[in-house]
Amino acid sequence: MKKIVVLISGSGSNLEAIIEACNTNRIDGKVIKVISNDPNAYGLKRASKYNISTKIIDHKKFLSRIDYENSLEEYIDSLSPDLIVLAGFMRILGPKITSKYSSKMINLHPSLLPAYPGLNTHEKVLSNKDAYHGISIHYVSSELDAGPLIAQGIIKVGKDEKLDNLIKRIHKIEHILLPEIIKEICNNNIYLDNEDVKFLNISLNNQKLIKKSYEI
Ligand code: GAR
Repeated sequence: MKKIVVLISGSGSNLEAIIEACNTNRIDGKVIKVISNDPNAYGLKRASKYNISTKIIDHKKFLSRIDYENSLEEYIDSLSPDLIVLAGFMRILGPKITSKYSSKMINLHPSLLPAYPGLNTHEKVLSNKDAYHGISIHYVSSELDAGPLIAQGIIKVGKDEKLDNLIKRIHKIEHILLPEIIKEICNNNIYLDNEDVKFLNISLNNQKLIKKSYEI
């Protein structure tokens, strides 16, 4: 059973989807720790509901970004995780920590990367009248919301769709696809090999990554 550490900053709905998938044996793994940079993150309450141990490492308590990251790194090291999932973790991590964990740290991002790294992705999709929106799951590199792509979930943007609705639909596909990908990583069917994502026993339909379209 793989040891999973989840980093959050906010609501933690994706964290809960991961915990539920572990609890129902869809993922052969266990969330051994939830780390939040925000002491008020609602995700900490969700973790406690499942008796999962939490740790707050508040970036505001550190004099510099590197001090914060060193402390985070030291703490993660002490847990010896197999997989580190950034699930709504809203801090940018620098090259030292990202290169150390590059093969075992994944990030969930609410856009079809390389489109719209950073914040306010849903607003950007709507203001640009994009036909499609979605989510990306990728191995982490020191570049913001970059790094080798593992999977994308795609939805069609509705005509005159409102922001709230779009966000709700994006969350729905996150809660489906992220646990599925974590499952495959825990089963050693997805791994990183020299910057290349390798897929075993997974049909890619001639694509370089997993792409799934949802009618949700
Ligand atoms: C998710 O939509 C995730 O894609 C996004 O934050 C949300 C967290 O929701 N992540 C990013 O924007 C990272 N760049 P949650 O706290 O309910 O899981």
